[in-house]
Amino acid sequence: MELLSVLSVVGLVWQAGRMADHSFADSGLAALYDLFCEGRDDFGFYLPLVMSAEAALDVGCGTGALLRGAREAGHTGRLCGLDPAAGMLAPARRRSDIGWV
Ligand SMILES: C[S@@+](CC[C@H](N)C(=O)[O-])C[C@H]1O[C@@H](n2cnc3c(N)ncnc32)[C@H](O)[C@@H]1O
Repeated sequence: MELLSVLSVVGLVWQAGRMADHSFADSGLAALYDLFCEGRDDFGFYLPLVMSAEAALDVGCGTGALLRGAREAGHTGRLCGLDPAAGMLAPARRRSDIGWV
């Protein structure tokens, strides 16, 4: 199996080993999430990390904004987002050139 070289744990340290927040399972709330992601400062840190890696796994990817941004910025390698909340993954899955689990 290919070694995934970047592990993004954005905002998850305090949640490790716990159930996902139920609000993230709500597809209606998840649809609103991206509206609050415009111009996020943290992507200025994380996006170059993803772009510099051959492959990236984003654990707790939510709606997949970081990986979608990487693909749009020209990342050609393997990208995979993982999230326990189906509601958050629904918008992510619209992008089929990224793996979603
Ligand atoms: C605040 S959102 C952040 C989403 C994305 N990383 C971002 O920066 O836009 C937190 C995400 O972590 C997910 N999550 C919660 N508990 C988790 C766990 N134990 N393992 C992986 N993901 C988890 C939630 O389902 C939610 O989508």
